[in-house]
Amino acid sequence: MTREKIRELISQMTLEEKAAMCSGADFWHTEAVARLGIPASMVSDGPHGLRKQDLEGDHLGVNESIKAVCFPAGCATAASFNRELLTEMGAALGNECQAEGVSVILGPAVNIKRSPLCGRNFEYYSEDPLVASETAGALIKGVQSKNVGTSIKHFLANNQETRRMSCDSRVDERTMREIYLAAFEGAVKKQKPWTVMCSYNKINGVYAAENHKYLTEVLRDEWGFDGYVMSDWGAVNNRVEDLKAGLDLEMPTSHGVNDKLIVGAVQSGNLDESDLDEAVERILNIVFRFEENRDKEAVWDKDEDHELARRVAEETIVLLKNEDILPLQDTDNLAFIGKYAMEPRYQGGGSSHINSHKITSAMDIVSGRYNIVYAQGYRDDIDETDEKLLKEAIEAAKTAKAAVIFAGLPDAFESEGFDRTHMSMPACQNELIEKITEVQPNTVVVLHNGSPVEMPWADKVKGIVEAYLSGQAVGGAVCDILFGKVNPSAKLPETFPIKLEDNPSYLSYFGEGDMVEYREGIFVGYRYYDKKKMDVLFPFGHGLSYTTFEYSNMQIDKECIKDTETLTVTVDVTNTGKKAGKEVVQLYVADKESTVIRPVKELRNFAKIELAPGETKNVAFTLDKRAFAYYSVKIHDWHVESGEFDILIGKSSRDIVLCKTVTVESTVKIPFVYTTDTTIGDVMKDQRAWELAKPIISGVTFGDANPGDENGSAAEAMSDEMVKAMMEYLPLRGPVSFGGSFSMADIQKLVDQLNALE
Ligand code: BGC
Repeated sequence: MTREKIRELISQMTLEEKAAMCSGADFWHTEAVARLGIPASMVSDGPHGLRKQDLEGDHLGVNESIKAVCFPAGCATAASFNRELLTEMGAALGNECQAEGVSVILGPAVNIKRSPLCGRNFEYYSEDPLVASETAGALIKGVQSKNVGTSIKHFLANNQETRRMSCDSRVDERTMREIYLAAFEGAVKKQKPWTVMCSYNKINGVYAAENHKYLTEVLRDEWGFDGYVMSDWGAVNNRVEDLKAGLDLEMPTSHGVNDKLIVGAVQSGNLDESDLDEAVERILNIVFRFEENRDKEAVWDKDEDHELARRVAEETIVLLKNEDILPLQDTDNLAFIGKYAMEPRYQGGGSSHINSHKITSAMDIVSGRYNIVYAQGYRDDIDETDEKLLKEAIEAAKTAKAAVIFAGLPDAFESEGFDRTHMSMPACQNELIEKITEVQPNTVVVLHNGSPVEMPWADKVKGIVEAYLSGQAVGGAVCDILFGKVNPSAKLPETFPIKLEDNPSYLSYFGEGDMVEYREGIFVGYRYYDKKKMDVLFPFGHGLSYTTFEYSNMQIDKECIKDTETLTVTVDVTNTGKKAGKEVVQLYVADKESTVIRPVKELRNFAKIELAPGETKNVAFTLDKRAFAYYSVKIHDWHVESGEFDILIGKSSRDIVLCKTVTVESTVKIPFVYTTDTTIGDVMKDQRAWELAKPIISGVTFGDANPGDENGSAAEAMSDEMVKAMMEYLPLRGPVSFGGSFSMADIQKLVDQLNALE
């Protein structure tokens, strides 16, 4: 419907109808206005499957939803680093929505993994904003290709479940831009999600729902978002202020209470009716965009989507460790141990919980086909060793050629709504793994978990497969990887630290009361571990393959660029092994010298390519200003400092194989503001400034120790370094105390002259 037509409709709506349009009619629908032909529009969770509730609605996944297909969760899909595949998955979700009459699927969820403890990490993508944003963008592209909307969530700085509805995320400006906003930015700008869901929490003291700065100034004015913003379920705090800030749709519904507030505010003049009209217009745009592009023919075949879920899962499973054990050479006389071999944990709890139409376990795949004995090994409803189960498992492992233990986190350990308090797996599972390795040297562990765990047994097993929460088809995908039908190609989108205490947010993660300060700043994930030169269990970007890749012939198209130009980086990748495989080529940028504190390196692009044995492909990346920039709080913009940057090509963040250096010249000069506190050292950096300031230094003496007097006893006590430092760090106002012949007014005059320099 054209803008004019929508405006025409709005002009026919009563004030009450417009107010009502700004909140849900019920848990999942927008309001209809029958007399004007405005239909109700349905939204549903999201993000990795369709949780459409036909009957009783809830936002915690409690009541039944329709049978659907559970694709791999966010933690897993990000590990695929495969944009095309995720677009395909998005298109399947979009098609399901068309067939089910759902206008917007509530996802993707891109919040940064600040800590391994966040209960919703399984739904989120990465500790790195580029990976989060690119993964989200790929999914959005797919869903929206079917004329169904997405709702990128939860905007913003919603990185924990503890006190999620009231906590106040205190994030400094640079960190917000470089890490937390950046996770949304690329996806919003490039893929234009139809809607955005704001989060529950406060951001620097102001509720997300009420935050004009982020909902309007950043999202709409800077990034050009033109859809509607909806609240997370129950995130509205003050309906009228929220509306003014840019929150269009309240979900689910306030049963009319907030509609009355809106009407009252317009009548009293506290709310401009045009602001209300604008919110209604944004909502109706999307309502009609869906209505007018309904695919009435759409049907979905759950079995077909299950097969796609399996293909996606195959690319999301990370081979973490392999000491010549995988792929399993033979299907004979093996032991599959652990409850999750029979009943995999393949999704997390809460609003994303899918009522799976079928679930394939590893045992479903191998039973009757291969000679594999199964032992349950542990219970996952309580964390206590069941001696009988343990004994059976040990017996099964003892007589087998190899044991594969399917372990991980039970539902009770991680879910929406609460955070973990530690990073351990259940003690009974750790004990099982230890005991199996005592009797079986050929042990592989397959993990089903949504977030990193500590692995005290990592050195004792020969293989570790991170299956994450890979959806309802996980069993087939895991078996394909175990037996070598599929060559693993996923990489970790997050660091697995050795222990929780190593994590940068450890000291302040839960905050104090409602106040959560993001004290680690920009040093999230590998940005921190690299800077601290810390050992980690498995680094960001790590993931093994059954083949080998060699990188060569790295080239950059220019040695020097201006920050307004782009740089093309190319590299050849060859499959030097015997199996076809896929590789994730990672490009990091490192600022070699900087006046601001920066991470050692940051991921700036990646590509996934497929190579037959012996095949070589040339991979090209284009880097623009943002690849070299940091966010300057002085100019409130992205800024590149002139100088050298290393372009690093890696197989992981800790396995950099090639490097080239480029010089980037900044076209923006951040003006230096002189004050009476500016140090002499800083003044000396600018020759013209120094010429002006020199006279005030000439008379400076430090007591008896005149820097020029080499014979004085006090001067002898002062080393050259000390004198140099005293001078370098002396503020411009210093000569008033140490020189004697200058007044503060003289200094201020000098400061004014310095600031007037062109
Ligand atoms: C969750 C959202 C979800 C919504 C609707 C909220 O509790 O935070 O992610 O989309 O419920 O179920």
